[in-house]
Amino acid sequence: MESTPGLLYSVTAIALVACSVSDVQGTPHGNETDQLALLSFKSVMVDQLGVLSSWSSSHHFCQWFGVTCGRRHRRVTKLDLQSQELSGTISPHIGNLSFLRVLDLQNNSFHSRIPLEVGHLSRLLHLYLNNNSLSGPIPPSLSSCSNLLNISLHHNMLQGYVPANLSSLSKLRVLLLQNNGLSGEIPLSVGNFSSLEYLYLGFNKLRGAVPDTLGNLRNLKDLSLVENNLVGNFPLSVANISSMEALDLGVNQLMGTLPLDLGITLPNLQFLSVIDNRFTGSIPKSISNMSQLNEFQITSNSFTGDVLSFRKMSNLLWFSVYGNHLGSGQANDLNFLCSLTNSTNLNYLGIGDNNFGGEVPKCISNLSITLEGFVLELNALSGTVPSSIENLINLEVLSVSFNNISGRIPPEIGNLRKVKELYLAFNVFTGEIPHTLGNLSMLTFLSLSGNNLLGTIPSSLGKYQRLLAIYLADNKLAGAIPPEIMSLSSLSMSADFSMNNLTGELPVEIGNLKHLGELDLSGNKLSGKIPSSLGSCMSLEYLYMGDNMFVGSIPSTLSSLKGIQELNLSHNRLLGQIPDFLEDLNLTSLDLSFNNFQGNLPTGGVFANTSAISVLGNEKLCGGLPEYRLPKCMSTGRSTDGRVRNVSIYTSLGILTIVFMLSLLCFLWHRKQRKTFASSSSNDRFLKVSYQDLLEATVGFSSANLIGTGSFGSVFKGVLALDQITIAVKVLNLDRHGASKSFIKECEALRNIRHRNLVKMFTGKRPTDDMFSDGLNLHFFTKAAFPERVLQIIDPVLLKETHDEDDGRDIRRTRRSDDRLRKIHECLVSTVEIGVVCSSEVPSDRMSMRDVAAALQAIRKKLIGS
Ligand SMILES: *[C@@H]1O[C@H](CO)[C@@H](O)[C@H](O)[C@H]1NC(C)=O
Ligand SMILES: *[C@@H]1O[C@H](CO)[C@@H](O)[C@H](O)[C@H]1NC(C)=O
Ligand SMILES: *[C@@H]1O[C@H](CO)[C@@H](O)[C@H](O)[C@H]1NC(C)=O
Ligand SMILES: *[C@@H]1O[C@H](CO)[C@@H](O)[C@H](O)[C@H]1NC(C)=O
Ligand SMILES: *[C@@H]1O[C@H](CO)[C@@H](O)[C@H](O)[C@H]1NC(C)=O
Ligand SMILES: *[C@@H]1O[C@H](CO)[C@@H](O)[C@H](O)[C@H]1NC(C)=O
Ligand SMILES: *[C@@H]1O[C@H](CO)[C@@H](O)[C@H](O)[C@H]1NC(C)=O
Ligand SMILES: *[C@@H]1O[C@H](CO)[C@@H](O)[C@H](O)[C@H]1NC(C)=O
Ligand SMILES: *[C@@H]1O[C@H](CO)[C@@H](O)[C@H](O)[C@H]1NC(C)=O
Ligand SMILES: *[C@@H]1O[C@H](CO)[C@@H](O)[C@H](O)[C@H]1NC(C)=O
Ligand SMILES: *[C@@H]1O[C@H](CO)[C@@H](O)[C@H](O)[C@H]1NC(C)=O
Repeated sequence: MESTPGLLYSVTAIALVACSVSDVQGTPHGNETDQLALLSFKSVMVDQLGVLSSWSSSHHFCQWFGVTCGRRHRRVTKLDLQSQELSGTISPHIGNLSFLRVLDLQNNSFHSRIPLEVGHLSRLLHLYLNNNSLSGPIPPSLSSCSNLLNISLHHNMLQGYVPANLSSLSKLRVLLLQNNGLSGEIPLSVGNFSSLEYLYLGFNKLRGAVPDTLGNLRNLKDLSLVENNLVGNFPLSVANISSMEALDLGVNQLMGTLPLDLGITLPNLQFLSVIDNRFTGSIPKSISNMSQLNEFQITSNSFTGDVLSFRKMSNLLWFSVYGNHLGSGQANDLNFLCSLTNSTNLNYLGIGDNNFGGEVPKCISNLSITLEGFVLELNALSGTVPSSIENLINLEVLSVSFNNISGRIPPEIGNLRKVKELYLAFNVFTGEIPHTLGNLSMLTFLSLSGNNLLGTIPSSLGKYQRLLAIYLADNKLAGAIPPEIMSLSSLSMSADFSMNNLTGELPVEIGNLKHLGELDLSGNKLSGKIPSSLGSCMSLEYLYMGDNMFVGSIPSTLSSLKGIQELNLSHNRLLGQIPDFLEDLNLTSLDLSFNNFQGNLPTGGVFANTSAISVLGNEKLCGGLPEYRLPKCMSTGRSTDGRVRNVSIYTSLGILTIVFMLSLLCFLWHRKQRKTFASSSSNDRFLKVSYQDLLEATVGFSSANLIGTGSFGSVFKGVLALDQITIAVKVLNLDRHGASKSFIKECEALRNIRHRNLVKMFTGKRPTDDMFSDGLNLHFFTKAAFPERVLQIIDPVLLKETHDEDDGRDIRRTRRSDDRLRKIHECLVSTVEIGVVCSSEVPSDRMSMRDVAAALQAIRKKLIGS
């Protein structure tokens, strides 16, 4: 403070000198040059808000909006036009503002190149051109602005290399080039930026190794190289910069191990992310010394071994080791969780998709109550869920799916009142579903599939107001489906009750599920007539009711299901005529097999596509296309020919190609053995068996082993000779359009009920690709959820951990990508909006495909920042 007058004095002195110099050179008058330059600048831009209306000769240019002049010499020192919705190009005349110190045009829509003439601005200290649509290269001439402190060019569409001689800017402290299209390698000269503190090169297309010269940047605090194509090992020289506070190497192709002494050489690190790389080896013990650490993210690598104690990390907010090979599969693997009880601000704890075994330790109830996300799925955990989990009162996402957890679902879970997503699927939970689960009033996803749950479905589950999807499949649930659940009008994605022991009639309240996209009731003992109210579920795309005891005829109201794509009513006791309206629905698959339908088989619409249809086992059908080989109809419309069809259904259908694949349906069949093979080879969760093995296991796919026929093929039961594992083999008829897709979908559903993949959750069944390319299946989004509730559907914890393995448009949590996340939020909202419009019950209300495509294109552009 005492030095301030001195400082002011010297600044003034410099200004005086500068002024007199320019007066001497005055070409023609410095001030006129500035005015001309500003007017030229204005002349090539589009000023839709009219903010530059003051830029005219009636005012001195020093009074123009956004212009600041030096007090004495009246030359432009600062041009601040940020966030003014300006567009057009940046005039090269800008280079004539030779006294300019600050050029701030950020957050506008300028396009085309950054003019080379910017390099003439030798007094420039701060250059902010970020958040525009600038393209072309970073002008190497910028290296002539030798006083620059701050260069912000992030969030543009810049291309080409990072100019090597830029590093002659020895005063530069901040270089922000993230979110562009920069390519090439990081220049070796980067080590010459001797004053650099912040270097952000993330979200570009940089390749090659991280240069060792970075280690020369002794003042570096924050380095982000996230989401490039960098290869090679962890940059040892960077691990040497003790000033570092944040290091983000995520989403590259780096490999090798982490330096053993990382925690000692970088004691000030607050943020460490190496997510989505190819790192191996163990987590270095020294990391436990990083007592400042806020975020520790090593998601999606190949780390092995134990997880050390994190006891000193009292500042930890975010801990994710998801998607590695950590743990021994044995007892006590999760003891490290107890060391995290000292992290009193912990927000997210993700240890899913590893090889952790043993029980979930009781100490989890001492974790910080700030915890919102706790993800343990896809491990080899056994034991029970401690009832003291009820202490974690702020939990919003809890997943223990795909483990071997047994015992009852603790009723205390019902006290976790903020839970929005609860995934307990594919474990060995027994007992009844606690009725207290109905108290989770914020719940949007409930997944209890693939357990040994008994008893009836509690009607308290009908209290949910926000539920989007409920998965209760593959348990031993008995009794009737509570009408209350069939009244949950928020249910818009999926209701899956399949493979249980449910009885009674389908409640007429089903008609309330006007937004439901998928309903699966197959493999139960439901009886009675199909309620005509089912026709009110006008958003249904997938309706599976096979393997039940439904009687009566197909209600005519089903003609209202205009969006239906797949309909399976097989293996019931339905009778009567096959209604003609099925011809008019846009079905891609229709399975009416093994019922008692009679009379004339229609020939139009889906019936013309023999590979999309199965009508086997309906003895009294007649007519239809010749391919069905049904008897001709008598004039009475009744079949005379009651011959029993060959059980070897495939040959009788004349199917050309049958391809055998083993599906993860073995989950469905015999989960107890699941872990045996799931953990047998590091991370390969598919059981590998030969065709011969399958042939033997199913006794040559004998009809005795046939346990069901679906729209795309049949399921056989079998026992593998080798380890006596009971399996289910799904035989797909690849002749049928969509069969392999259906298989993959099923595998995905079984394997991938993991919420880190946002979009799969988001649409229930579609990968991101679909979301942005055809993206037309988003109708699952209920209007009820839009717009206020959209962000409740899309949980913030989800957003933080989202990522999609399928393509390059990866979206991940990094500190640096917070801004991106906000964008994603926006995009999701827009996408949901489109989803709702597309899902209008009446096709004519829907947006045209062209409009949808255009809108999605716009969203995509926003998301990838182009
Ligand atoms: C430029 O400076 C000259 C003298 O230094 C002065 O007469 C003239 O009015 C100035 N013009 C503007 C536009 O400021
Ligand atoms: C960016 O500019 C828009 C106007 O174009 C404004 O609404 C928004 O607040 C600005 N954003 C920031 C972060 O300044
Ligand atoms: C201003 O800049 C333009 C483009 O760089 C240049 O052609 C022109 O000579 C400059 N004018 C003056 C007065 O310096
Ligand atoms: C950097 O390179 C560009 C062209 O490659 C050149 O115009 C500029 O003068 C160079 N800057 C320095 C400081 O060497
Ligand atoms: C550099 O610019 C960024 C904005 O783009 C700002 O946050 C930062 O404080 C600036 N740094 C310096 C040293 O001026
Ligand atoms: C980097 O600096 C060293 C000296 O510190 C110099 O020899 C070298 O030429 C510089 N490299 C570049 C590309 O400027
Ligand atoms: C780390 O720093 C030390 C001393 O500053 C130096 O001797 C060593 O070579 C550096 N290691 C790397 C890999 O840069
Ligand atoms: C827990 O953290 C505090 C700092 O918040 C520290 O003083 C204490 O030693 C830690 N406890 C253990 C057991 O390490
Ligand atoms: C299904 O329920 C019936 C009684 O309704 C019972 O006899 C049967 O054992 C149950 N089956 C299974 C697999 O639980
Ligand atoms: C029918 O569905 C197909 C595929 O789902 C789609 O391409 C087609 O546009 C739909 N037709 C109508 C009339 O809805
Ligand atoms: C730049 O864009 C990012 C991403 O959209 C946004 O988070 C940030 O606020 C923007 N900055 C400005 C100054 O507009």
